[in-house]
This record gives sequence, C-alpha cells and structure tokens, in this order.
Amino acid sequence: MATINFGGVLENVVTREEFSLNKAQEILKNETVAVIGYGVQGPGQALNLKDNGINVIVGQRKGTASWNKAVADGWKEGKTLFEVEEACKQGTIIMNLLSDAGQIQAWDGMKKHLTNGKGLYFSHGFGVTFHEKTGIVPPKYVDVFLVAPKGSGASLRSLFLKGQGLNSSYAVFQDATGKAQERALALGIAIGSGYLFETTFQKEVYSDLTGERGVLMGALAGIFEAQYNVLRQRGHSPSEAFNETVEELTQSLMPLVAENGMDWMYANCSTTAQRGALDWKGKFREATEPVLNELYDSVLSGKEAEIVIEANSKPDYREKLQEELAVLQQSEFWQTGAQVRKLRPTK
Ligand SMILES: NC(=O)c1ccc[n+]([C@@H]2O[C@H](COP(=O)([O-])OP(=O)(O)OC[C@H]3O[C@@H](n4cnc5c(N)ncnc54)[C@H](OP(=O)(O)O)[C@@H]3O)[C@@H](O)[C@H]2O)c1
Repeated sequence: MATINFGGVLENVVTREEFSLNKAQEILKNETVAVIGYGVQGPGQALNLKDNGINVIVGQRKGTASWNKAVADGWKEGKTLFEVEEACKQGTIIMNLLSDAGQIQAWDGMKKHLTNGKGLYFSHGFGVTFHEKTGIVPPKYVDVFLVAPKGSGASLRSLFLKGQGLNSSYAVFQDATGKAQERALALGIAIGSGYLFETTFQKEVYSDLTGERGVLMGALAGIFEAQYNVLRQRGHSPSEAFNETVEELTQSLMPLVAENGMDWMYANCSTTAQRGALDWKGKFREATEPVLNELYDSVLSGKEAEIVIEANSKPDYREKLQEELAVLQQSEFWQTGAQVRKLRPTK
C-alpha cells in the first residue's frame, strides 16, 4: 500500500510498484480463474488476464453473439471456453461478469459450484448490496470481493495494449480463506488496473449508480440538450449550437482537462471566458446539487436498483431500449453530431 495525499486527504492505494505483476502471478499460480460472461467487461478482463500469464477460462452461454465473439478472440471450446455452469465448476475463482440482470437469472446455477474456499469476484457491488431484490447471497465459506474498473471493458483492453491502465476500486465483502484481499488485489493488478483504491460493496454501487446517472452520462446528456435547445430556439444554426455545446468540449477542452485539470483550464482560457465561467459555475452548482442529492437518495433507497431490475428482466427489454435509443439517435441534435464528426479533417 502507498499512502497518497489527495488534496489534503490521505488515502491508502495500491499501485503496480508495490504490488507487481510477478507478485500477482505468484498469488494466482494455482488458481483457475473463470471469467463468466463475455459482454463488455468479460473480454477486456479475460484477455488481459491471459496476456498476463494467468490460467483463465471463459464461461458463456452458447449460441449467442457473445459466444461467437469469444471464439473469434481465440478461446477454444472445451479447452478454455465453456457453458456458464461448466466454467463455474472448473473455476477456483469465479469472476461474475454477467450483466446485473443476468446475474440474478444465473445465480442458482452458479451458486451450486461455489464450494468451500472458492473465490467469487464481481466488478460491481450491485447484486450483493441489493440482495433483497436480487437474491444473491453468497455462502459463508467462499471469499467474496470486487474489482471495479472505472471505465468500459473496451478501454481496459485498449489501454492495456498501450501499456497504460484504468483505475479500479476494490473491496472485500467476505473473507472465508484469509486470502480474499490478496486474491482481489492480484486480480486487480492482473486485469491491468492503473492504481487500485479501497471501497466497500455498498459505496461502490452507490457512487457508480450516482456517477453514471449524474455527471458521467445522465446529467451531461441533459445539460448538452438544454444548451443546444436554447441556442436553437434563439436562432442559432445546428452547426453553431453543436460546436458550442459538444464539439469544442470533446475536441479541444476535455483532452486538456484530462491532461492538466479544470483549474489549469480556467487559468489558461481567455479572460472573457474566465470571468464568465467563474461567475456562472456557482449558479450551475447550486441548480444541480439538489438534483444530485435527489438522485443519491433514490440510489440509497434501492429505488434505482428496483427500476433497473424490473426494466432489464422483461423479455422484450432490448427492443424497448432500442426504441428509446432510436429517439436519441434520430434527434436533430445527434444527427447534427454525426454530420459534424464526418466533417472533421482527416490526414
Ligand atoms: N460495461 C462496463 O464497462 C462496466 C464497467 C465496470 C463494471 N461493469 C460491471 O461488470 C459486469 C458486467 O457488465 P457488462 O457491461 O460487461 O455486461 P454486459 O455487456 O451486459 O454482459 C452481458 C453478459 O451477460 C450475459 N448474460 C446476460 N443475461 C444472461 C443470462 N440470463 N444468463 C446467462 N448469461 C447472461 C451475456 O450473454 P449473452 O450475450 O449471451 O446475452 C453477456 O455475456 C456488471 O456487473 C457491470 O456492472 C461494467
């Protein structure tokens, strides 16, 4: 562990310096790691583990696009690729990377194979935290831990291939063998995490659901739409409204914020932008803080989990989702976005 000062707050974190890949390989050398689910996280985590020399197999239901993707990625049926239950049987650590709704449906089949001393791994605290709604209650004699990469499985893989990594949180929910923490950290390093910070199952799920509904996706899309609409209603062209709302943000400002921080951005923009942004930042914070608190309360009460489980357990959930997403995709706003992206100069 390294103690790092985050703006005056000390936190213990795990980096690749103190917890080397060699150490992770040594801890995992006698384990069969079964990655269950080959959706978004499954491929990223399974391929990184394999490339890092870990003994890994994949469990995926057969006859679907995800199975075909696993085959295309080089997993061999009967050797390193199995149906879900067979992989759970063979694995000494079961990495449950099914969708959160899929985890509920597959739980009874998985539970049978959770024998004494096995490890049960998640990348989200959802199933265990909301156990009253999901029915996911692991037996007392297995280790239960999580490593949650802060980003998509696709980024986990592409950053790994560049020698970089996504940061991940980790948590131990249940330590049956006395080795739950080292198993979690070894997997966290071996899947290619940047640094690992400690959390609990509850905190992971509360912050994750708030983040994706808030600034990362929900709030961002909402404020984009609001500003685009205002500019359009006030007579600005689609090009102007889109460029002032999204294109400048993603192409110019956010890469600089990623590199140097928003404080640097404030210090390095025009004095006109600086004065206005400093004056309006507080108004936006005050307008949105109550909404974010309402959101956090909805997460805390389990209401958000209930909505997700209900919606995603319906047999026609994919079709319904497609209808909603089509509205977004066909809107003037995002159609403009598609055109603007096509007009970006290429080499
Ligand atoms: N998406 C991310 O980038 C991300 C980031 C951090 C953490 N996480 C967490 O990682 C976990 C996996 O998420 P994900 O986004 O990778 O999920 P996903 O892409 O939705 O993966 C779905 C996987 O679950 C399988 N599945 C769904 N329902 C099933 C059922 N009833 N029985 C058997 N298999 C079923 C799918 O198989 P089929 O294709 O055959 O349906 C597929 O392999 C979740 O806990 C999520 O919260 C995700």
